[in-house]
Amino acid sequence: MVRTWAEKEARNLMRLQQGGVIAPAVKLLRQHVLVMEFLGEDGWPAPRLKEVRFPSAAALDQCYLDLCATMRKMYSRCRLIHGDLSEYNLLLYRGRVVVIDVSQSVEHDHPRAMDFLRRDIVNVNAFFRAKGHQELFSLQDLFFFITAAPDSKGWRRNQGPDNTPELLLRLKEMREEMHRAGHAVTDENQAKIDEQVFLNIAVPRSLNEVADHKAPNEEVAPFVKGMTADHADAHDDREDDREASDDADDADAPDEDGSDGDEEDDEEDDEEGEEGKKKRKKKNVQKTLSDMTKDEKKAHHKAVKEANRERRQEKKKKGITKYAKKKK
Ligand SMILES: Nc1ncnc2c1ncn2[C@@H]1O[C@H](COP(=O)(O)OP(=O)(O)O)[C@@H](O)[C@H]1O
Ligand SMILES: [Mg+2]
Repeated sequence: MVRTWAEKEARNLMRLQQGGVIAPAVKLLRQHVLVMEFLGEDGWPAPRLKEVRFPSAAALDQCYLDLCATMRKMYSRCRLIHGDLSEYNLLLYRGRVVVIDVSQSVEHDHPRAMDFLRRDIVNVNAFFRAKGHQELFSLQDLFFFITAAPDSKGWRRNQGPDNTPELLLRLKEMREEMHRAGHAVTDENQAKIDEQVFLNIAVPRSLNEVADHKAPNEEVAPFVKGMTADHADAHDDREDDREASDDADDADAPDEDGSDGDEEDDEEDDEEGEEGKKKRKKKNVQKTLSDMTKDEKKAHHKAVKEANRERRQEKKKKGITKYAKKKK
C-alpha cells in the first residue's frame, strides 16, 4: 500500500524509468522524504517548457514530437497517466523532454483515467499552439496515437519496438496523412470549440456503460473516430501485466495536498451537501487546468478525490477475492 505523496511520486518515477520515459531517478525514499536526481547544469535546474525560448520552428516541433512519443510511452509502457501534464511539469534537459511531478499520476484503468488523459492532451496542444506551432496533431489523432493497441504496423505495447525512433516514425506518417488530407490550421476560436468537444465526449469504458448501442450522431461521429475500439482492446490484454500493475493499484488521482486524506475529504464532502453536488454535476463543461480559477481547480480536485474514493470502495469489495487468491 502506498501511503504518502513521496511514496507515490517515487513509485511513479521508477515506473517511468522502467518504461523508458526520461524522468529524474529516485535516489532515496524515507517516509515523507524523497530525494531525486537533480537535472540541470552547474547548479541551475533545467528550464521548464514554460521558460524555454525555442530558437526555431523546427526546435519547437522537435520538442512537440518528443513529448507526443513520451505521452504514448507513459501510457503504453508505464501504464500511467500524468494527470497534471503541462509546460510547468515538463523540463527540457539536454534537448529532451523530461517528465516531473508525478505524485498525482493515475493508473491507465483509473475510473477517470481517460478524462485526465484528454485534459493532458489539451494542455499540451494548447501550449504548443500558443507558441505558434503550425502543425499540431488533432486532439483526437493524438489520443488515438497514445492509446492505440498493437496494430498491424508492428508497434506494440510493452514490447521492444515501442521506442522513441519508432514512435517518431509513426508521428511522421501521421503528419504526412495530415498533409494529404489537406489539414488546415484552425483559428483560436475553432481550437477552443474543438477542445470542448474533445473534453466532453463520453468515452465508454465497457459495454455495460453503453446504454444505447446506436452509432453516435453525425455531428459527433468524426471526433469519436478511433476513441473507443482500441481503448477497449487495451483493456482486453491487461491480463498480460496484471502482476505489474497490481502493486500500483492504489495510485491516487490528482490530490492537491498530496495526502490520501480520506477522512478529511469525507467531512468536506458532507459539508458540501446535496446542493453543492448538484451544482457540480450541472457544470459539465470542462476547462483546462490553466483556464481554471482557484475555486474551479479546487472543485476539480474534489471531484477527482471522490472518484478515487468510489474506486477504492469498489476495490475493497474486490480485494477480498484477490486476497483469497494470493493466499493459495
Ligand atoms: N529533478 C529535478 N531537477 C531539477 N529541477 C527540478 C526537478 N524536479 C523539479 N524541479 C523544479 O522544481 C519545480 C517544482 O517541482 P514539481 O515537482 O513540479 O513540484 P510542485 O509543482 O508540486 O511544486 C519544477 O517546476 C522544476 O523547476
Ligand atoms: Mg509542478
